[in-house]
Amino acid sequence: MKTQVLPVTAQSLAMAGRIIREGGLVGMPTETVYGLGGNALDAQAALRIFEAKGRPADNPLIVHVASVDEIPPLVRTVPQAAKKLMEAFWPGPMTLILPKADCIPGTVSAGLDTVGIRLPQSEAARAMIRAAGVPIAAPSGNRSGRPSPTTAQHMLEDMDGRIPLILDGGPCAVGVESSVIDATGEVPVILRPGGVTPEMVEHVLGRVSVDEHVMSPLREGEIVRSPGMKYRHYAPQAKTVIYEGGTDRVIAAICARYDAATAAGERVAILGFDGHDFGARTRISLGHAGSAQDAASRLFAALRELDERGETLALCEAVDTAGIGLAVMNRMGRAAAFDIEHV
Ligand code: TXA
Ligand code: MG
Repeated sequence: MKTQVLPVTAQSLAMAGRIIREGGLVGMPTETVYGLGGNALDAQAALRIFEAKGRPADNPLIVHVASVDEIPPLVRTVPQAAKKLMEAFWPGPMTLILPKADCIPGTVSAGLDTVGIRLPQSEAARAMIRAAGVPIAAPSGNRSGRPSPTTAQHMLEDMDGRIPLILDGGPCAVGVESSVIDATGEVPVILRPGGVTPEMVEHVLGRVSVDEHVMSPLREGEIVRSPGMKYRHYAPQAKTVIYEGGTDRVIAAICARYDAATAAGERVAILGFDGHDFGARTRISLGHAGSAQDAASRLFAALRELDERGETLALCEAVDTAGIGLAVMNRMGRAAAFDIEHV
């Protein structure tokens, strides 16, 4: 199969809509990351998504809608707290876990009694959902285990020959996947941090809880609230280590480790901020120092670049976990198997 990459136009949207209605898959730009979209009401389309990604069958897909009016048939109830979050943060980078209705196939929800629903901010995403005329199930458009794609080109790298079409909506503004929030209980629980931050949720609801696995690895045999937490994610080939502490100490520790590893024959790269002095050592930029949003937009591309360059060791500067920084540290932490040096 030849994979076409087309700009978002009336024609390409019509083509995308037709492919989705016929049970096929299309690369969908969103404000977070590119998604691998298929008809959320079609069990066969869902199976094709799992196959194209190489995704374990027990990891559920999230369902994208273009307006809140499309939600009632997809869920059994919408708790009050969820309604408030929808009003405050949709359209936007937030997925709400809700009790699922029967029309959502078990393949989409991976057998769970709940479904994740998202109303994206991206105009292109919503136009594609409208063109399809059905809700679109879309996991991130990477092959399973790879960093999520933040450009159409990244998605093509992973999906070339596997799907007929990717709509190119340009680079993703947020750069990390949506916040996944379990809104089925009394207190909302952030299962995966993203652009809608714990601070923002707390501001609206007066309370929030963050799942302990957001910043810690799983123990053997442990049960998780979100299947995606179980899987190795975002991991580059390079052994990845995070350095956290005062900026000067972090820079000094990274430089020392870099030099020792290079002398021992490793291929080393630093994921570090602009303006931090790493001398002539290889650095992949995370953007402006202190900007967690810059790091969010650049992290997945940086992890892909490590692999392209054939690096064997990556030394990363941590970011503060305030705001979207928590999402950055969750993704960086998982890429590093939570190997964090406190200096
Ligand atoms: O920003 C995003 O969310 C992107 C774009 C394309 O919208 N999509 C995305 O999908 O990141 P995916 O499948 O890569 O990540 C969805 C996460 C997974 O970790 C999955 O385990 C979790 O959400 N999830 C989905 N349904 C769930 C459910 N019913 N209960 C708990 N976790 C769920
Ligand atoms: Mg994913």
